[in-house]
Amino acid sequence: MSAPNKSYDPVEVEALKPEEVARMRDEALAAVAAAADLEALREVKTAHTGDRSPLALANREIGALPPHAKADAGKRVGQARGAVNQALKARQVELEAERDARVLVEEAVDVTLPYDRTPPGARHPLTTLAERIADVFVAMGYEVAEGPEVEAEWFNFDALNFLPDHPARTMQDTFFVAGPGGEAESGVVLRTHTSPVQARSMIDREPPVYIVCPGRVFRTDELDATHTPVFHQIELLAIDEGLTMADLKGTLDHMVQALFGEGLRTRLRPSYFPFTEPSAEMDMECFVCHGESVGDPDRPCRTCSSEGWIELGGCGMVNPRVLTACGIDPEKYSGFAFGFGIERMLMFRHNVEDMRDMVEGDVRFALPFGMEI
Ligand code: FA5
Repeated sequence: MSAPNKSYDPVEVEALKPEEVARMRDEALAAVAAAADLEALREVKTAHTGDRSPLALANREIGALPPHAKADAGKRVGQARGAVNQALKARQVELEAERDARVLVEEAVDVTLPYDRTPPGARHPLTTLAERIADVFVAMGYEVAEGPEVEAEWFNFDALNFLPDHPARTMQDTFFVAGPGGEAESGVVLRTHTSPVQARSMIDREPPVYIVCPGRVFRTDELDATHTPVFHQIELLAIDEGLTMADLKGTLDHMVQALFGEGLRTRLRPSYFPFTEPSAEMDMECFVCHGESVGDPDRPCRTCSSEGWIELGGCGMVNPRVLTACGIDPEKYSGFAFGFGIERMLMFRHNVEDMRDMVEGDVRFALPFGMEI
């Protein structure tokens, strides 16, 4: 910048001469008009309005002018800079509008085009529900346990106190696996329930044992609306010192409330299983009508058939004979077990009327259940 000089005339400063200021302005305006996109406009802006632009440098010369010349030169340069800034803004608006219009065309999605990608599939609601149930127990400190689907008869029956002539062993219920030589008495079955995992878990672990076991089981049932030969159960086993039916009841209450809603009650009815003593069938209060449909023909409940209770599964205190067979001292430890069918729970939980829909593998059945994980 030139030093203050009271004597010189502004027109003598080259950068402030009217024609020079006009030239700088016109050059800037031409560059603005020529900017083809927003990136180019940004460069033009820096070149013509930045600190080192010709008009900014000319502006600096004004400070060195004598007072009477400052106003004239200041007005000239100020107007030129104003015109450039205005042109920049106007071009910015124009270019943004052009870009938006282009993006709308280039990124348009034709929603009427046929859907031609491979459908992504869906998780089966039985899997989702089994995981959800297991999660309730994992949150209580239980471990998820697994066992083989092709199982030794000893684990499936003998260890669980099924006597040799128990009806469940017959061809009515059980798929017997032929031996390698085709012999029928191979001692191997497709497990008929998840309870053999109880025996395996007790043998594998030192007490205390807290396991939950979801899994596939097999019975020689015909496929119909309420039965399938391949279905799923979930098994619960707790072995510890001093466990009682009260612990079982509290655990079942918690499970039902975690899955179906706060405050729901459970009840136990006497029953029989060879591997539990005493044994019970466990019912849960209907989570839809809460028993209010009972005896009221105007308010029928499809979920519990207006009975107020839904039968869930079998349970009981682990039979001391089972503890002994699995190497656990029944004098020191006691335990409870619980098992139920997941298909059946899916039916009443989601109003599925026909179990065959669950086994046919049509993704249209699974999709409405969403992607819950
Ligand atoms: C048992 O399988 C016992 N292991 C349950 C148990 C575990 C009792 C621990 C005590 C302690 P059950 O045979 O009742 O019990 O079968 C349990 C559930 O499996 C039934 O309530 C039903 O929901 C389901 N179920 C049985 N057969 C079928 C079938 N063919 N198709 C679909 N679900 C079935």
